[in-house]
Amino acid sequence: MPVTINESTVEQTNPANSSSSQRGGFSSALGTLFATLGSAVGLGNIWKFPSMTGENGGAAFIIVYLLSTLFVGLPVMISEIMMGRKARANVIKTMRQLSPSKSQPWWLIGVAGVLSAFLIMAFYTEVAGWVFAYIFKSISGGLLSTDPQITSQAFVDLVTNPLQSLLWQWIVLALMSLIIIRGVSKGIEATTKRLLPLLLVMLVVIAIRGLTLPGASQGLNFLFKPDFSSLTSAAILSAMGLAFFKLSLGMGTMTTYGSYFKDDQNIPTTTLRVMLSDLTVSLLAGLAIFPAVFAFGFEVTSGPSLLFITIPSVFASMPFGSIFMVMFFLLASFAATGAMLSLFEVPVAFLAENTRLNRTKATILTAFLLALIGSTAALSSSTLADFTIFGKTMFDLFDFLSSNILMPIGGLFIVIFAGWFWGEKNIRKALSNNGLLKNERLVTLFIVIVKYLTPILLIVVMLNGLGVF
Ligand code: TRP
Repeated sequence: MPVTINESTVEQTNPANSSSSQRGGFSSALGTLFATLGSAVGLGNIWKFPSMTGENGGAAFIIVYLLSTLFVGLPVMISEIMMGRKARANVIKTMRQLSPSKSQPWWLIGVAGVLSAFLIMAFYTEVAGWVFAYIFKSISGGLLSTDPQITSQAFVDLVTNPLQSLLWQWIVLALMSLIIIRGVSKGIEATTKRLLPLLLVMLVVIAIRGLTLPGASQGLNFLFKPDFSSLTSAAILSAMGLAFFKLSLGMGTMTTYGSYFKDDQNIPTTTLRVMLSDLTVSLLAGLAIFPAVFAFGFEVTSGPSLLFITIPSVFASMPFGSIFMVMFFLLASFAATGAMLSLFEVPVAFLAENTRLNRTKATILTAFLLALIGSTAALSSSTLADFTIFGKTMFDLFDFLSSNILMPIGGLFIVIFAGWFWGEKNIRKALSNNGLLKNERLVTLFIVIVKYLTPILLIVVMLNGLGVF
């Protein structure tokens, strides 16, 4: 499409637009797809999705999850990205800029977003720290035991050791800072573009290994046999919550990334591809994990213990298991990296634009604040194990506050703002790239969904998060 290419060239060389070129952005359509997908693909795919699917009725849950990503996830993602691209600014500035009246405090959505980014990062960097530690532990052979009791002890030793917990978290923070400092295109885009294909290859290799084990079919049954009786209303609601977490929604990540999208990027098709690819990774992760778990007769556990206790024992049971184990934690670290970069970028973009700090200093300040807040999560299983608020350790509290309160509220306000305040005319322009794309009917469908269906569904999720049902 020569017309669009011209447009973006004009955009970049236009001196009036220098602030946007100074902020940087994604450099190619493929790079944009990879960076955005890199945000969605994360630890959520590797244990949240498989274990929730297994617990909540297999294929029945997957169907509900699919519907949730279509009618809640995608509309929120499209809204965030189109508004970020329009404003070409961090999430707080975007909301302020697009607000029809300066007296309406829509920028508070952005503030909540930056805040949630800190909360999510605080515990996410800790889990990522364990994953990084496990790469080395699996290389050294320290995890090679078929006895879950021994692998469980190895995990307990790690999380209850305050120094080790902090150290691994700081290593992760330092690594992410180094990538973020390099910039949006040379840092985030270049990194995710390299890591995602490798991740995919390793995941496929492990899935094939698992599927070819004798007794693998039981794992397939666990994952895919639809059991509509375990599809309770709570399970339906948690499928929606998962869609939210999986696609990095409701707290400014996608708004920030949208501000780096090129003007000729097709937002509806890009987001659809991200959603489908993310789903593929989740399903592959399920195939990499459950057939092997069942083949060796292990109990299915959920949460961190599936990842850090059961999986090492499973790999220790198979021939050449140590190689697969290293691969597994390597790919998990790649997944976590793309997700963390997108979380990190939210406060960095804000600080670099709204304060006098440059990108490097903004990154260092963010890393420092994260180390500070994150240390309370890192020490949740050791020094601060008895320090609880509402009966939750800081680790659990951050998880709960961000996933059950801040993100759904953020998502709800974002779709209400997009559908009812920013308005139809702006949406049509944004999603058709000013009329260049002939996707009128698709956009009409989007407008109906974003105005009515998504807000209603989201309110249900939120009431569930607050324990009303
Ligand atoms: N989507 C990532 C995962 O599945 C996590 C994540 C990254 C995230 N950025 C986010 C979650 C923003 C919520 C909001 O692991």
